[in-house]
Amino acid sequence: MLVVQDIEVSYGAVAAVKGISFNVGKGELVTIIGANGAGKSTTLNAIMGLVPITAGDMLMKGQTLTRVSVENRVGLGMSYSPEGRRVFKSLSVLENLKAGGTTLSKDVAAERIDRVMAHFPTLQERRDQVSGTLSGGEQQMLAIARALVSDPEFLILDEPSLGLAPKIVSQVFEIISELRGYGVTILLVEQNISKSLAVADRAYVMELGLIVKSGFAAELADDPEIHDSYLGTAG
Ligand SMILES: Nc1ncnc2c1ncn2[C@@H]1O[C@H](COP(=O)(O)OP(=O)(O)OP(=O)(O)O)[C@@H](O)[C@H]1O
Ligand SMILES: [Mg+2]
Repeated sequence: MLVVQDIEVSYGAVAAVKGISFNVGKGELVTIIGANGAGKSTTLNAIMGLVPITAGDMLMKGQTLTRVSVENRVGLGMSYSPEGRRVFKSLSVLENLKAGGTTLSKDVAAERIDRVMAHFPTLQERRDQVSGTLSGGEQQMLAIARALVSDPEFLILDEPSLGLAPKIVSQVFEIISELRGYGVTILLVEQNISKSLAVADRAYVMELGLIVKSGFAAELADDPEIHDSYLGTAG
């Protein structure tokens, strides 16, 4: 589905991603783990076309993304739920979902929104509520739901469970597993490393802009180094 080859991203003089390569196969759930500032969000932003790469290449279904706009990446089946529950707080739930379907015709968007709502009963009940008044968990559900309106083949999620109560975290991970069950290819970045390794097929470990380790998620979950660095006693 996605092949990333030696990409580099810099913010001015600061190199945030220093030549990393990885791939996500069709139907796979791949997670990128790593400490704060490792370059995970930057990598996802680059894949979505929100920050420019200064070297390397990215291929989606064999096609280079180099000159493809964000909108056209959505057209290729990609969808992104960025870090920090970025919902439009002054808009209603329904209006936020419509914003996820701007690349679709009105009729198709309406049908997709109905389908997505069916999976999120709370959002259905609150469709006319101003999103800024939703709870944190509900806003996160909305951010994920909005990314699903385009019916993506390839879903990119950045820290979907950040700051949520444990029960809601479990719900978010249930939704992720369910989506995978439907055949959606997923690239997941999460600070909840034990849960993300439990749900993923494969994982990449990032440190200071580089990939330092990769493998099957189950193997990494048992790796003593991963355990010491990232799972600790909280894992
Ligand atoms: N817009 C920006 N301008 C300048 N530097 C940035 C910008 N965004 C990120 N950086 C820097 O790039 C590096 C990687 O940041 P990034 O947000 O990709 O890390 P991350 O792995 O997602 O971290 P976290 O787990 O905290 O979300 C950091 O050193 C960060 O300070
Ligand atoms: Mg981040």
